[in-house]
Amino acid sequence: MPAAAIALDEKLMPGAHEFDPMRFYKQRQDPDEANLHQFTTTEKNSLHFGYGKWACPGRVFAMYEIKLILAYLLLKYEFEFPGEGKRPENLSAHEVGLGIYNVFFHPLARFPGPKLWTAYRLPFVISMVNGNLTHQTKHFHEKYGSIVRTAPDELSFTNDAAWRDIHAYRAGHRNFPKSQLWNTIPNLGKRGPPKKPDHILNANDADHSRIRKLFSHSFSEKAVTEQEPLVQSYVDLLIAQLRKQVELNKGSAISISTWYSFTTFDIIGDLGFGEPFDCLKDAKYHAWVGMLVGQFKAATVGLAMQYYPLGRWFMQNLIPQKIIDDVVKHARFTDEKVRHRLSLEVDRPDFLSGVLRHNDEKGMTMEEIVETSNIMLVAGSETTALTLSGITSYLVKNSDVMIKLVEEVRHTFKTDSDIKPGQVSKLPYLNAVIQEGFRLCPPIPDGFRREVRWAAIQFVGSGYQKE
Ligand code: HEM
Repeated sequence: MPAAAIALDEKLMPGAHEFDPMRFYKQRQDPDEANLHQFTTTEKNSLHFGYGKWACPGRVFAMYEIKLILAYLLLKYEFEFPGEGKRPENLSAHEVGLGIYNVFFHPLARFPGPKLWTAYRLPFVISMVNGNLTHQTKHFHEKYGSIVRTAPDELSFTNDAAWRDIHAYRAGHRNFPKSQLWNTIPNLGKRGPPKKPDHILNANDADHSRIRKLFSHSFSEKAVTEQEPLVQSYVDLLIAQLRKQVELNKGSAISISTWYSFTTFDIIGDLGFGEPFDCLKDAKYHAWVGMLVGQFKAATVGLAMQYYPLGRWFMQNLIPQKIIDDVVKHARFTDEKVRHRLSLEVDRPDFLSGVLRHNDEKGMTMEEIVETSNIMLVAGSETTALTLSGITSYLVKNSDVMIKLVEEVRHTFKTDSDIKPGQVSKLPYLNAVIQEGFRLCPPIPDGFRREVRWAAIQFVGSGYQKE
């Protein structure tokens, strides 16, 4: 299910391409819907955090981070686009006989879609590597309807009957498993890092439940509240550093996206590994974080190659040694960082304290902890930073919204120290703006792929074909 194509579908969301900060606020005025349509709600038209048993566990944490950071910045600063006043580019980030079979005789042949895409996987892969798969998918849904065949063996759904069937638990049925290809790091062969254990993203049902249960202690309402002072200390550091940067770079622009990224990496580093990466302090990416950020785009090319045997062979045999060395170094460093954190007596609640407290015989192995901590770092940092950048860019483009929001923040808070997480959640306009910016600029705009067994294809297909 393509989250962005759904959120931008005019039929589901009238005026979908407009920035209407009051959209969700207005929907909540209906007493029956007063508790729905929140930033962290996962529902049919809001799937940016996924849905069902794999839905994002860090969303409440991300919400607090975003509100705090925006409130602090709006209290003290004005924003505008640098240079020509234009929004910077988005940062975000797959034989003739076979083609004839795929288009006319394949079990999915009855579903509509662009012919070349239904015949071969290549157009999908090219679009993925070019970074425009999300836009293409949205365009295909506009042209072909709510079920589109985007590759020989792949369907994309935007109709609201499908999301529950695909993502939610159905009594008497097993969950559709996640796509292993999309959730497992490509095998780099003998030169790559040693084989890794499963982690929260690619573990089987039973292991996933065990891992998720342990980590859930870190995301309980209580834990998030206890983590607030630490988050706040990094927001303070962000503000102090921005002040310094403004003085140092008199007259020249500062990339707020980079500073958002420094902040979220430091916060997740501290909560995940017991110490920050000092990106804020040093005003630059820590080498390890820089390596990670550098690997995001390469990871898309790596994923694209996994679709072809020759691509997989290339990954294992022909990738330059320098790239392999970086990946091995990165894996070793992660391992050392987590083991170092586990050796520390930490008296404050972080992501691992809940895991360690409850790690009995049904707990996690050291290797699983290392791998899941690594996932946590990737999942919890750039996602939040990109969301903040997206919201900021809509604010800069809509000066009337910015004026109203600044008024609300400055009217409510007089000094930095007045800003508390519990308080920022009470600002209706701030919350409305954040949610609408998130809808228009989600950091994970693509779908969350599920593998559907052959028998289930009949079920999925027959149920939605008639509309
Ligand atoms: C705006 C910020 C964020 C967005 C948009 C986001 C989005 C997502 C999405 C779409 C998924 C996959 C859902 C699926 O496969 O069905 C996910 C999973 C996950 N996220 Fe987030 N996330 C955000 C912030 C965070 C934060 C701050 C953390 C941790 C501190 C976090 C930790 C995780 C983890 C551990 C998973 C894997 C869950 C599982 O497989 O059970 N995320 N997130």
